[in-house]
Amino acid sequence: MKITVFNGSPKGMYSNTEVLAQAFIEGAKQAGAETANVYLINQDIKHCTGCFSCWFRTPGNCIINDDMAELLEIYKNSDIVCFGTPVYLWNMTACLKNFLDRLIPVKSPNVQQNDGSFDMADGHFKMPEVIIISNAGFPGNNNFDTLKKVMEPAQPILEIYRNCGMLLRAGDQRIQQIVSEYLSYVTQAGYQIASDGKITGDVANGLNMELMTVPEYVKYISK
Ligand SMILES: Cc1cc2nc3c(=O)[nH]c(=O)nc-3n(C[C@H](O)[C@H](O)[C@H](O)COP(=O)(O)O)c2cc1C
Repeated sequence: MKITVFNGSPKGMYSNTEVLAQAFIEGAKQAGAETANVYLINQDIKHCTGCFSCWFRTPGNCIINDDMAELLEIYKNSDIVCFGTPVYLWNMTACLKNFLDRLIPVKSPNVQQNDGSFDMADGHFKMPEVIIISNAGFPGNNNFDTLKKVMEPAQPILEIYRNCGMLLRAGDQRIQQIVSEYLSYVTQAGYQIASDGKITGDVANGLNMELMTVPEYVKYISK
């Protein structure tokens, strides 16, 4: 079982997203998974220009010469891909979106309909399962509504949405204790996904635990 995290935070390895990704990877490794962690911000990924060469002229291959050729191989060779992103303007970062646009060579030029929505069919290889790991700077859960909707067609097998994300790398010891309790659920989620492909109700509940009350958090992040 190979699990690859594609971290779309512009802060890369110093991001709050990374704290979640590392906890998840730790659990997956404990269950025997082979894992990889790609910081998209450090990759040369040009914008998709919509030329559709990857469908009609050079099927399956993008004609842009950059790091995406290698990343596509990593993507295709993964059993599970985990898209990590902070919420930026209610959605994923431009960094992750840019990468996802460039995955178009893995799709085929055949239109399919699902519950009234249209999409392109998958290409001729086994598509990896998808996991979403996100954190938002604000409290509350509606910060993730847009991202959830956007990622719905990918049918994620797990979505981890962490509000109050600015606490994930807090220096305060009291906060670190609560964060570490929360991260133990993220690690368990990684373990369970790598062993069973799904998480238990207890872990799902843990992933929704409160890190701080809303008034406390608003005070904490307000200057
Ligand atoms: C340009 C920008 C837009 C943001 N938009 C939102 C937003 O819409 N909702 C939200 O809850 N937080 C928003 N945030 C806060 C980030 O989600 C928060 O700082 C997060 O913890 C950063 O995660 P990272 O360290 O993984 O990059 C925004 C931050 C930036 C820089």
